Amino acid sequence: MNAAERAAWLRDELHRHNRLYYVDNAPEISDTEYDRLLRELSDLETAHPELLTPDSPTQTVGVAPVAAFGEVRHRVPMLSLDNAFDEAELQAFDQRVRRFLAQDEPVRYVVELKLDGVSLSLTYEDGLLTQAATRGDGTTGEMVTANARTVRGVPLRLAGAAPGLIEIRGEVLMTRADFARLNDEKLARGETPFVNPRNAASGGLRQLDSRLTRERRLRFFGYTFGAIEGPAVPEDQGARLAWLREMGVPVAAHAEECPDIEAVIQAIARVQAQRPDLPFDIDGVVIKVADGALRERLGDTARGPRWAIAYKFPAEQAMTRMHAITWQVGRTGLVVPVAELDPIYVGGVTISRATLHNPSELRRKDVRVGDTVIVQRAGDVIPEVVGPVLERRPEGTEPVPVPTECPVCGTPLLYGEGDILLRCSNKRACPAQLLAGIIHFVSRGAMDIAGLGEKQIQFFLDKGWISDIPSLYELGRHREAMVNEPGLGQQSVDNILAAIEESKTRPLSRVIIGLGIRFVGEKTSIDLATAFGNLDALAVADEARLQAVPDIGERTAAEIVTWFADDENQTLLERLKAHVNPTLADLEPLGDQFAGQTVVFTGKLETMTREEAEAYVRRHGGTPAGSVSKKTNLVVYGPGAGSKLAKAEQLGVPLMTEAEFCEQYRPLESP
Ligand code: IVH
Repeated sequence: MNAAERAAWLRDELHRHNRLYYVDNAPEISDTEYDRLLRELSDLETAHPELLTPDSPTQTVGVAPVAAFGEVRHRVPMLSLDNAFDEAELQAFDQRVRRFLAQDEPVRYVVELKLDGVSLSLTYEDGLLTQAATRGDGTTGEMVTANARTVRGVPLRLAGAAPGLIEIRGEVLMTRADFARLNDEKLARGETPFVNPRNAASGGLRQLDSRLTRERRLRFFGYTFGAIEGPAVPEDQGARLAWLREMGVPVAAHAEECPDIEAVIQAIARVQAQRPDLPFDIDGVVIKVADGALRERLGDTARGPRWAIAYKFPAEQAMTRMHAITWQVGRTGLVVPVAELDPIYVGGVTISRATLHNPSELRRKDVRVGDTVIVQRAGDVIPEVVGPVLERRPEGTEPVPVPTECPVCGTPLLYGEGDILLRCSNKRACPAQLLAGIIHFVSRGAMDIAGLGEKQIQFFLDKGWISDIPSLYELGRHREAMVNEPGLGQQSVDNILAAIEESKTRPLSRVIIGLGIRFVGEKTSIDLATAFGNLDALAVADEARLQAVPDIGERTAAEIVTWFADDENQTLLERLKAHVNPTLADLEPLGDQFAGQTVVFTGKLETMTREEAEAYVRRHGGTPAGSVSKKTNLVVYGPGAGSKLAKAEQLGVPLMTEAEFCEQYRPLESP
């Protein structure tokens, strides 16, 4: 193979791999191998400049900056779309379409993702990319050809038999992964991060230096055509998208054909559910009449086509003014900066507070009182402040100081976890921690005590009727005083007391959640309840035993052990257990031969699993434990037993082999 043949082969091969990667989502080679091929081609072109072609994959690296972009008049205007915000507006759109077509039968639609980026029009002449333009005002845009060449997924040459002239339109965006990575890099260099992927993409496409555009790793997805000279465009939207793919243009997944508007509404719900998991941001879906002939008849208005509508999802980001920062003390003592905002509608709800996570995030984002900030609420995630809008920063703002003392109890604050988290160490007496802990205990996800909200809890604390979680179950003692309290009254007092009483029937996992151990949420609590069966067994489990529970890691195990090792927590637990002490229903007692005894299994068990052995002990009144102490009543050991066996021998704890244990108790015979 001579140099010219090799260069041609490399070009074709690289084009093919680009398609496999960006269009088919099915790469065949690694990035390193791709880079190696690209370098070989680049070296060949340097040695033989005459071999360089305009569609060479080496021509995507960007070129020297231009002074300004030229203007491009679009051959076919780049229109905008009408918006719909709810089901009724979609129904109205469908009716408009059918009325215009004078048609009773349902109209077929295609539902596509509404990619949240910037639109771009690519002109190909005889299959070669000759021009790229932004939308601009719809009639005239900016010529960004050099930049577009660096955008991933923009083919420099169309595959297959291309028309003499074709304008391909689509969206340029930044994936969420690239956005996160680029922002990490920016932060490491001490630069201000991008606010969102859309801004990063739109700014990236309009860089005067196309090498900078390339660094943003932008992606292109096609969805429609502008001017075409040559073959007729396929009739159906589905076929059009397929044609784009055949030409080597990436098309976003999830386009779905629907027989009527009802099916469209269902498809939208599916997209909405997938929205958080998509690799890029979308701000809605676009609904298009599927049949090209019907589209022709429908035509356009001045604003946009009659055959399409954008269904907008509630924005996940919005701008508002931050008028203060408060420091909130949580139940585990974490002190978190919270932005107090002018109320704003975002992600489908109105919010007036958003988290800034921790002092280090606050410093990094450098949001200041008086700033206009971008807030975000995606899905059910807690609203957060993304960052300030620096162009709108008023004069004379100052960075927000981080407190050195607990804003509620005045205890000096400590930094933990790599100096990121700020904590009030006054675990027991800090009123804020106490209040937050009780609120958590009574909350829906935990003990679900109806009628007890933050206000009542604070009031009862102030009155001295309650002092901590267990005291909730002694609240009845103050019934007299409560009933006489203006604003409470007999009925509401009795309702509250009944709700507290009723909470005693909550399953074990809910009680575990209620304890408020760090990292122990619903899933972990259920795992713990299943593995240990009651609070006593959980309380004595060591880290190794906890980590043996699937999905419980080092961090969580350590938090659990620390919580139960704390003297005051032990007292609290004992008092709580006097009122609430559920066990797993499927671990109903079968006997009492281990009543009051603690049994440790160590080493490898051969005839039963660790879970079966421990469940057996529990169901016969005992407590399986993970570590040996003076209080251990029996150690059952198998092959490989080490330090626990040695400790038991040293302490004189009774020992049994697994065989002896089975011989004496016959655990495998009980139901
Ligand atoms: S079709 C006549 N399809 O949304 C306009 N547009 O609000 C035809 N967009 O300017 C546009 N995803 O930048 C279409 N799948 C999609 C889209 C999409 C995002 C953008 C596009 C357009 C804007 C209209």
